[in-house]
Amino acid sequence: MPILKIARMGHPILLQRAAEVADVASVQDLIKDMVLTLTDAGGIGLAAPQVHESHRVILISVPPSRGECDEPETPLTALINPVLTPMGQEQVAGWEGCLSIPGLRGAVPRYTAVRFEGLDMCGEPISGEARGMMARVLQHEVDHLDGILYPMRMQDFSQFGFDEEIGRYALNQI
Ligand code: NI
Repeated sequence: MPILKIARMGHPILLQRAAEVADVASVQDLIKDMVLTLTDAGGIGLAAPQVHESHRVILISVPPSRGECDEPETPLTALINPVLTPMGQEQVAGWEGCLSIPGLRGAVPRYTAVRFEGLDMCGEPISGEARGMMARVLQHEVDHLDGILYPMRMQDFSQFGFDEEIGRYALNQI
């Protein structure tokens, strides 16, 4: 079970629509490798196209240290063929990074709450409602399945830059 190489922005697989998963068993080994890869990278989300696999599979994991105030922890969860439905029209800008765009961060508008549906890694349906950072990560990861990277969602490029500089100067600006 290897740690997988992460595709970086510029690789064409990141701009493709990923294929629906017809057979959950066919992606179980991939999910195990993605878990190792996400854990190794210290990320809070990963989509299969980021490891050069064009399947509709995402992982999310939002520990208390990475969530918003009072947000419940999201344990490491795999979602196959995820579908999101916004709960209302409200959007909020928040900082995002991406393992495929290392070293950079940008402010991206996202729906504040979404309903999610999909299958777990055993093929059982799972669904729920997400808010806060979990809602943001879900939207970021499902975008990867549709060939969309977060800069393509940005509206204010004054809120785009290197982690180090933003950490130093801009954390409180949105
Ligand atoms: Ni990403």
